[in-house]
Amino acid sequence: MTAFPVRRPRRLRRSAALRHLVAEHDLTARRLILPVFVKEGIDAAQPIASMPGVAQHPLDAVADIVEQAVAAGIGGIMLFGVPATRDAVGSGATDPDGILNRAIAAAAHAAAGRITVQADLCLDEFTDHGHCGVLAADGSVDNDATLEVYARMALAQADAGADILGLSGMMDGQVAACRRALDAAGHRDVVILAYSAKYASAFYGPFRDAVESTLTGDRRTYQLDAANGREGVQEALVDIDEGADIVMVKPAGPYLDVLAEVAAVSAVPVWAYQVSGEYAMIEHAAAAGVIDRDRAIGESLLGIRRAGAEAILTYWALEVAGWLNAGRSLA
Ligand code: PBG
Repeated sequence: MTAFPVRRPRRLRRSAALRHLVAEHDLTARRLILPVFVKEGIDAAQPIASMPGVAQHPLDAVADIVEQAVAAGIGGIMLFGVPATRDAVGSGATDPDGILNRAIAAAAHAAAGRITVQADLCLDEFTDHGHCGVLAADGSVDNDATLEVYARMALAQADAGADILGLSGMMDGQVAACRRALDAAGHRDVVILAYSAKYASAFYGPFRDAVESTLTGDRRTYQLDAANGREGVQEALVDIDEGADIVMVKPAGPYLDVLAEVAAVSAVPVWAYQVSGEYAMIEHAAAAGVIDRDRAIGESLLGIRRAGAEAILTYWALEVAGWLNAGRSLA
Protein backbone atom coordinates (compact mmCIF):
# COMPACT_ATOMS: atom_id res chain seq x y z
CA MET A 1 0.00 0.00 0.00
CA THR A 2 1.42 3.38 -0.97
CA ALA A 3 1.70 5.95 1.72
CA PHE A 4 -0.60 8.91 1.45
CA PRO A 5 0.03 11.75 0.77
CA VAL A 6 2.62 10.77 -1.84
CA ARG A 7 3.88 14.31 -2.28
CA ARG A 8 5.17 15.87 0.90
CA PRO A 9 6.57 19.37 0.23
CA ARG A 10 6.86 19.87 3.97
CA ARG A 11 9.77 17.39 3.93
CA LEU A 12 12.13 20.19 2.86
CA ARG A 13 10.89 22.47 5.62
CA ARG A 14 11.46 20.04 8.46
CA SER A 15 14.58 21.58 9.94
CA ALA A 16 16.37 24.91 9.91
CA ALA A 17 19.33 23.20 8.22
CA LEU A 18 17.14 21.92 5.38
CA ARG A 19 15.43 25.27 4.95
CA HIS A 20 18.81 26.96 4.87
CA LEU A 21 19.98 24.51 2.21
CA VAL A 22 17.02 24.86 -0.14
CA ALA A 23 16.43 28.62 0.08
CA GLU A 24 16.08 29.84 -3.50
CA HIS A 25 16.91 33.48 -2.96
CA ASP A 26 19.10 35.48 -0.69
CA LEU A 27 20.68 38.87 -0.48
CA THR A 28 24.24 40.03 -0.11
CA ALA A 29 25.47 43.41 1.03
CA ARG A 30 26.73 44.34 -2.42
CA ARG A 31 23.15 44.33 -3.71
CA LEU A 32 22.09 47.11 -1.32
CA ILE A 33 22.35 50.83 -2.04
CA LEU A 34 21.88 53.51 0.60
CA PRO A 35 19.98 56.70 -0.26
CA VAL A 36 21.58 59.69 1.52
CA PHE A 37 20.10 63.17 2.01
CA VAL A 38 22.63 65.99 2.13
CA LYS A 39 21.33 69.37 3.23
CA GLU A 40 22.96 72.70 2.59
CA GLY A 41 23.79 74.93 5.53
CA ILE A 42 23.38 72.60 8.50
CA ASP A 43 26.18 71.55 10.81
CA ALA A 44 24.64 68.48 12.47
CA ALA A 45 22.40 65.65 11.30
CA GLN A 46 18.70 66.52 11.40
CA PRO A 47 16.33 63.61 11.97
CA ILE A 48 13.40 63.20 9.57
CA ALA A 49 10.30 62.71 11.73
CA SER A 50 8.38 60.67 9.17
CA MET A 51 11.35 58.34 8.67
CA PRO A 52 12.58 57.24 12.11
CA GLY A 53 16.28 56.42 11.87
CA VAL A 54 16.90 58.51 8.74
CA ALA A 55 18.39 62.00 8.81
CA GLN A 56 19.43 64.88 6.62
CA HIS A 57 23.20 65.16 6.77
CA PRO A 58 25.56 68.11 6.52
CA LEU A 59 28.05 68.12 3.66
CA ASP A 60 30.97 67.39 5.93
CA ALA A 61 29.37 64.13 7.07
CA VAL A 62 29.50 62.64 3.58
CA ALA A 63 33.02 61.24 3.91
CA ASP A 64 32.07 59.42 7.10
CA ILE A 65 28.94 57.93 5.51
CA VAL A 66 31.07 56.70 2.63
CA GLU A 67 33.39 54.99 5.13
CA GLN A 68 30.41 53.27 6.77
CA ALA A 69 29.17 52.15 3.38
CA VAL A 70 32.58 50.78 2.44
CA ALA A 71 32.88 48.98 5.77
CA ALA A 72 29.44 47.43 5.30
CA GLY A 73 30.33 46.28 1.80
CA ILE A 74 27.20 47.72 0.21
CA GLY A 75 27.08 48.45 -3.52
CA GLY A 76 26.93 52.20 -3.32
CA ILE A 77 25.24 55.31 -2.04
CA MET A 78 22.57 57.35 -3.83
CA LEU A 79 22.87 61.05 -3.06
CA PHE A 80 20.01 63.55 -2.84
CA GLY A 81 20.57 67.27 -2.29
CA VAL A 82 18.45 69.58 -0.19
CA PRO A 83 19.37 73.12 -1.26
CA ALA A 84 18.93 76.25 0.86
CA THR A 85 17.30 78.17 -1.99
CA ARG A 86 15.24 77.14 -5.02
CA ASP A 87 14.13 78.85 -8.21
CA ALA A 88 11.84 78.25 -11.17
CA VAL A 89 14.45 76.47 -13.30
CA GLY A 90 16.31 74.59 -10.56
CA SER A 91 19.61 76.42 -11.02
CA GLY A 92 21.13 74.69 -8.01
CA ALA A 93 21.09 71.41 -9.91
CA THR A 94 23.45 72.53 -12.64
CA ASP A 95 25.66 74.78 -10.50
CA PRO A 96 28.94 73.01 -9.66
CA ASP A 97 28.66 74.64 -6.24
CA GLY A 98 25.11 73.36 -5.74
CA ILE A 99 24.71 71.12 -2.71
CA LEU A 100 24.21 67.90 -4.64
CA ASN A 101 27.22 68.43 -6.89
CA ARG A 102 29.37 69.28 -3.88
CA ALA A 103 28.12 66.17 -2.11
CA ILE A 104 29.00 64.06 -5.16
CA ALA A 105 32.50 65.51 -5.22
CA ALA A 106 32.96 64.86 -1.50
CA ALA A 107 31.67 61.30 -1.83
CA ALA A 108 33.75 60.54 -4.91
CA HIS A 109 36.86 61.83 -3.17
CA ALA A 110 36.17 59.76 -0.04
CA ALA A 111 35.15 56.64 -1.94
CA ALA A 112 38.19 56.66 -4.20
CA GLY A 113 36.67 53.86 -6.24
CA ARG A 114 35.85 51.59 -3.29
CA ILE A 115 32.08 51.91 -3.73
CA THR A 116 29.95 53.51 -6.41
CA VAL A 117 28.76 57.08 -5.99
CA GLN A 118 25.29 57.59 -7.43
CA ALA A 119 23.24 60.76 -7.71
CA ASP A 120 19.59 61.58 -8.20
CA LEU A 121 19.18 63.39 -11.50
CA CYS A 122 15.91 65.28 -11.21
CA LEU A 123 14.86 68.87 -10.64
CA ASP A 124 12.24 68.52 -7.93
CA GLU A 125 14.59 69.32 -5.06
CA PHE A 126 15.83 72.41 -6.87
CA THR A 127 12.69 74.04 -8.26
CA ASP A 128 10.59 76.41 -6.18
CA HIS A 129 7.40 74.85 -7.59
CA GLY A 130 8.62 71.34 -6.73
CA HIS A 131 8.04 69.74 -10.12
CA CYS A 132 10.59 67.43 -11.67
CA GLY A 133 10.96 69.68 -14.70
CA VAL A 134 10.71 73.27 -15.82
CA LEU A 135 7.30 74.72 -16.53
CA ALA A 136 5.80 76.06 -19.74
CA ALA A 137 3.88 79.34 -19.75
CA ASP A 138 0.62 77.49 -19.10
CA GLY A 139 2.05 75.87 -15.96
CA SER A 140 2.46 72.40 -17.45
CA VAL A 141 5.77 70.56 -17.17
CA ASP A 142 7.68 71.22 -20.40
CA ASN A 143 9.21 67.91 -21.41
CA ASP A 144 11.71 69.04 -24.02
CA ALA A 145 12.84 72.18 -22.22
CA THR A 146 13.47 69.95 -19.19
CA LEU A 147 15.66 67.63 -21.26
CA GLU A 148 18.09 70.47 -21.88
CA VAL A 149 18.38 71.10 -18.16
CA TYR A 150 18.79 67.37 -17.43
CA ALA A 151 21.61 67.19 -19.98
CA ARG A 152 23.44 70.01 -18.20
CA MET A 153 22.72 68.40 -14.84
CA ALA A 154 24.20 65.13 -16.12
CA LEU A 155 27.39 66.94 -17.08
CA ALA A 156 27.61 68.70 -13.72
CA GLN A 157 27.18 65.38 -11.87
CA ALA A 158 29.68 63.59 -14.10
CA ASP A 159 32.18 66.43 -13.70
CA ALA A 160 31.72 66.18 -9.92
CA GLY A 161 32.70 62.51 -10.10
CA ALA A 162 29.47 60.52 -10.00
CA ASP A 163 29.76 56.93 -11.23
CA ILE A 164 26.04 56.40 -11.80
CA LEU A 165 23.36 58.96 -12.62
CA GLY A 166 19.88 58.08 -11.39
CA LEU A 167 17.44 59.63 -13.86
CA SER A 168 14.26 59.90 -11.83
CA GLY A 169 12.32 62.68 -13.57
CA MET A 170 10.19 60.57 -15.93
CA MET A 171 10.55 62.92 -18.90
CA ASP A 172 10.32 61.29 -22.32
CA GLY A 173 13.73 61.07 -23.96
CA GLN A 174 15.71 61.77 -20.80
CA VAL A 175 18.01 58.78 -21.16
CA ALA A 176 18.90 59.63 -24.76
CA ALA A 177 19.39 63.32 -23.94
CA CYS A 178 21.73 62.63 -21.03
CA ARG A 179 23.64 59.89 -22.88
CA ARG A 180 24.24 62.17 -25.84
CA ALA A 181 25.43 65.03 -23.64
CA LEU A 182 27.69 62.76 -21.60
CA ASP A 183 29.25 61.14 -24.65
CA ALA A 184 29.81 64.47 -26.39
CA ALA A 185 31.68 65.70 -23.31
CA GLY A 186 33.84 62.57 -23.08
CA HIS A 187 31.98 61.05 -20.13
CA ARG A 188 31.46 57.81 -22.02
CA ASP A 189 31.90 55.63 -18.95
CA VAL A 190 29.37 57.33 -16.70
CA VAL A 191 26.56 54.85 -16.07
CA ILE A 192 22.90 55.73 -16.56
CA LEU A 193 20.42 54.20 -14.14
CA ALA A 194 16.95 54.89 -15.48
CA TYR A 195 14.08 55.04 -13.03
CA SER A 196 12.07 53.61 -15.89
CA ALA A 197 8.89 52.46 -14.25
CA LYS A 198 8.37 55.14 -11.65
CA TYR A 199 4.80 55.31 -10.46
CA ALA A 200 2.93 58.34 -9.13
CA SER A 201 2.85 57.07 -5.57
CA ALA A 202 1.58 57.99 -2.14
CA PHE A 203 4.55 56.02 -0.82
CA TYR A 204 6.87 58.96 -1.62
CA GLY A 205 5.20 60.95 1.16
CA PRO A 206 7.98 60.77 3.75
CA PHE A 207 10.63 61.49 1.08
CA ARG A 208 8.93 64.78 0.36
CA ASP A 209 9.54 65.69 4.01
CA ALA A 210 13.11 64.52 3.69
CA VAL A 211 13.81 66.87 0.80
CA GLU A 212 11.41 69.57 2.05
CA SER A 213 9.42 69.36 -1.15
CA THR A 214 7.47 72.45 -2.15
CA LEU A 215 5.19 70.58 -4.55
CA THR A 216 1.53 71.40 -4.63
CA GLY A 217 -0.55 69.16 -6.85
CA ASP A 218 0.87 65.90 -8.16
CA ARG A 219 3.14 64.31 -10.74
CA ARG A 220 0.52 62.37 -12.67
CA THR A 221 1.34 63.90 -16.04
CA TYR A 222 4.80 62.32 -15.95
CA GLN A 223 4.88 59.48 -13.40
CA LEU A 224 3.02 56.26 -14.18
CA ASP A 225 -0.52 55.37 -13.19
CA ALA A 226 -0.75 52.62 -10.58
CA ALA A 227 -3.31 50.83 -12.72
CA ASN A 228 -0.85 50.20 -15.53
CA GLY A 229 1.61 47.31 -15.57
CA ARG A 230 2.25 46.99 -19.28
CA GLU A 231 3.15 50.65 -19.50
CA GLY A 232 5.86 50.14 -16.91
CA VAL A 233 7.43 47.39 -18.99
CA GLN A 234 7.21 49.58 -22.08
CA GLU A 235 8.98 52.44 -20.27
CA ALA A 236 11.83 50.10 -19.36
CA LEU A 237 12.16 48.88 -22.95
CA VAL A 238 12.21 52.45 -24.26
CA ASP A 239 14.92 53.38 -21.77
CA ILE A 240 17.02 50.36 -22.71
CA ASP A 241 16.62 51.35 -26.34
CA GLU A 242 17.81 54.88 -25.49
CA GLY A 243 20.92 53.48 -23.84
CA ALA A 244 20.06 52.93 -20.18
CA ASP A 245 22.70 50.76 -18.52
CA ILE A 246 20.40 49.76 -15.66
CA VAL A 247 16.63 50.08 -15.31
CA MET A 248 14.62 50.44 -12.14
CA VAL A 249 11.11 49.93 -10.85
CA LYS A 250 9.84 52.19 -8.08
CA PRO A 251 8.22 51.87 -5.57
CA ALA A 252 9.15 48.23 -5.07
CA GLY A 253 6.69 46.43 -2.80
CA PRO A 254 3.41 47.50 -4.42
CA TYR A 255 4.87 46.89 -7.93
CA LEU A 256 6.45 43.45 -7.67
CA ASP A 257 4.50 42.29 -10.73
CA VAL A 258 6.00 45.07 -12.83
CA LEU A 259 9.43 44.27 -11.41
CA ALA A 260 9.07 40.61 -12.34
CA GLU A 261 7.92 41.43 -15.85
CA VAL A 262 10.71 43.92 -16.43
CA ALA A 263 13.23 41.40 -15.07
CA ALA A 264 11.89 38.80 -17.50
CA VAL A 265 12.49 40.93 -20.58
CA SER A 266 15.36 43.25 -19.69
CA ALA A 267 18.74 42.84 -21.32
CA VAL A 268 20.33 45.06 -18.66
CA PRO A 269 20.39 44.85 -14.85
CA VAL A 270 17.10 45.54 -13.07
CA TRP A 271 16.97 47.31 -9.74
CA ALA A 272 14.18 48.37 -7.40
CA TYR A 273 13.74 51.26 -4.98
CA GLN A 274 12.13 50.42 -1.66
CA VAL A 275 10.86 53.94 -1.09
CA SER A 276 10.35 56.12 1.94
CA GLY A 277 6.73 55.09 2.53
CA GLU A 278 7.62 51.41 2.45
CA TYR A 279 10.30 52.14 5.03
CA ALA A 280 8.04 54.31 7.17
CA MET A 281 5.20 51.78 7.22
CA ILE A 282 7.38 49.09 8.75
CA GLU A 283 9.17 51.43 11.17
CA HIS A 284 5.95 52.98 12.46
CA ALA A 285 4.11 49.66 12.66
CA ALA A 286 7.04 48.18 14.56
CA ALA A 287 7.15 51.18 16.90
CA ALA A 288 3.46 50.63 17.57
CA GLY A 289 4.24 47.06 18.50
CA VAL A 290 2.12 45.47 15.80
CA ILE A 291 4.87 43.87 13.71
CA ASP A 292 8.25 42.19 14.21
CA ARG A 293 10.48 44.90 12.75
CA ASP A 294 13.52 42.91 11.68
CA ARG A 295 11.56 40.05 10.19
CA ALA A 296 9.31 42.45 8.31
CA ILE A 297 12.34 44.25 6.91
CA GLY A 298 13.92 40.97 5.83
CA GLU A 299 10.72 39.69 4.28
CA SER A 300 10.10 42.93 2.39
CA LEU A 301 13.61 42.82 0.91
CA LEU A 302 13.47 39.13 0.06
CA GLY A 303 10.20 39.70 -1.75
CA ILE A 304 11.77 42.41 -3.88
CA ARG A 305 14.76 40.20 -4.59
CA ARG A 306 12.53 37.21 -5.42
CA ALA A 307 10.55 39.34 -7.88
CA GLY A 308 13.77 39.94 -9.80
CA ALA A 309 15.68 42.92 -8.44
CA GLU A 310 19.43 42.49 -8.70
CA ALA A 311 20.05 45.45 -6.41
CA ILE A 312 17.78 47.37 -4.06
CA LEU A 313 17.87 50.96 -2.89
CA THR A 314 16.76 50.85 0.72
CA TYR A 315 17.09 53.11 3.76
CA TRP A 316 17.99 49.99 5.74
CA ALA A 317 21.03 49.24 3.54
CA LEU A 318 23.67 49.69 6.24
CA GLU A 319 21.76 47.87 8.95
CA VAL A 320 20.74 44.94 6.77
CA ALA A 321 24.26 44.66 5.35
CA GLY A 322 25.41 44.28 8.94
CA TRP A 323 22.98 41.41 9.45
CA LEU A 324 24.01 39.71 6.24
CA ASN A 325 27.70 40.09 6.97
CA ALA A 326 27.06 38.45 10.34
CA GLY A 327 25.51 35.48 8.57
CA ARG A 328 21.95 36.22 9.58
CA SER A 329 19.29 35.08 7.13
CA LEU A 330 16.46 37.40 6.17
CA ALA A 331 13.64 34.89 6.19
C1 PBG B 1 12.62 62.51 -7.42
C2 PBG B 1 12.58 61.36 -6.48
C3 PBG B 1 11.57 61.02 -5.58
C4 PBG B 1 12.00 59.90 -4.91
C5 PBG B 1 13.26 59.59 -5.38
N1 PBG B 1 13.59 60.48 -6.39
C6 PBG B 1 10.32 61.72 -5.23
C7 PBG B 1 9.21 61.92 -6.17
O1 PBG B 1 9.23 61.48 -7.32
O2 PBG B 1 8.27 62.59 -5.73
C8 PBG B 1 11.24 59.18 -3.83
C9 PBG B 1 12.04 58.25 -3.01
C10 PBG B 1 11.37 57.79 -1.77
O3 PBG B 1 10.17 58.02 -1.54
O4 PBG B 1 12.07 57.17 -0.96
N2 PBG B 1 13.75 63.31 -7.18
